[in-house]
Amino acid sequence: MSALIRILGIESSCDDTSAAIIENGKILSNLIANQEVHAEYGGVVPELASRAHQQNIVPVIHESLKKAKLNLEDIDAIAYTRGPGLLGSLLVGSSFAKGLSLGLKKPLLEVNHMKAHILAHFIKDNSSIPKFPFLCLTVSGGHTQIVHIKSPSNMQVIGNTLDDAAGEAFDKAAKMLGLPYPGGPLIDKYAQTGNPTKFQFKVGNMEGYNFSFSGLKTGILYFLRKEKEKNATFIEDNLADLCASIQNTIVTALLKKLDEAVDKLNIKEVAIAGGVSANSELRKRLMDKEEKGWVCHIPKFEYCTDNAAMIAMAGEFKYKDKDYGKIENTPKPRMMFE
Ligand code: KG4
Ligand code: ZN
Repeated sequence: MSALIRILGIESSCDDTSAAIIENGKILSNLIANQEVHAEYGGVVPELASRAHQQNIVPVIHESLKKAKLNLEDIDAIAYTRGPGLLGSLLVGSSFAKGLSLGLKKPLLEVNHMKAHILAHFIKDNSSIPKFPFLCLTVSGGHTQIVHIKSPSNMQVIGNTLDDAAGEAFDKAAKMLGLPYPGGPLIDKYAQTGNPTKFQFKVGNMEGYNFSFSGLKTGILYFLRKEKEKNATFIEDNLADLCASIQNTIVTALLKKLDEAVDKLNIKEVAIAGGVSANSELRKRLMDKEEKGWVCHIPKFEYCTDNAAMIAMAGEFKYKDKDYGKIENTPKPRMMFE
């Protein structure tokens, strides 16, 4: 094994086609082709996503190599997202990764997308790197978890959403406000000038470290319906306050459970990961916890939402452990932490 380890990461679990190259923890390139096609449908259309992945994957990998000034022969292994995600989308990335592995005679590395969101913290250009053990609130469009991380290969999910994910709650609320998909970043944007306590919304309090966001969605729907009967332009007149209040409700619910986990497990090393960790209010309020003695870690903005840099980073840990994948293994849309 040469001293330099170079891994090509391929991510295609949902609607972003991404390829990245990592060299000993340092990202040389991280390219993402976003799929505009879904915006008009208000959500990801699986069939359109897999077709767009097929169109994007060759140019994205090509560009990532070009940007890193490398050839395929310079790569030591190929890491790809095995799951969780949309089957049709996962199939494009996994088939391509397997083809490269066979053609180049280089090992294949199977990566769990949710673990990769967490391991993105170990990419060298982050402002801080967590120490083990730590707790991570992983919040994305499909998942909301509190994870206890003992090592890169030893992680335990201690809390989960029982219905909608936090990102889904942001996106569904945004849709009700007439904002395009994905609405999370837009709620964040409009909330900047709004009053977070103007409107009160409720989030169910689940047992343990679990979450539930489906009641919030129904609450917002009925509230807007009632207010619009009185004032047809209620949403337009109150957009900033509505966004700030919804964001405050979701962030408060997330931090409440994280707070309980930190206290009960007595682990003060805390991180956030996943698309919703890009949320400015969540980032700010997590950092405020440092006053309570927490040591907080927030990933660099570009490693929050889906990207292949995190897949390459997770792959690097597996490569060092010689934990290689198998060509006959198929994608796992509902992949768990195993
Ligand atoms: O991790 P990710 O890119 O994809 C999944 O694995 O799901 O997360 C996407 C989710 C979407 O629901 C999006 O609305 C949300 O992350 N998101 C945000 C922000 N940026 C992305 N939610 C709130 N505020 C943001 N700034
Ligand atoms: Zn994700």
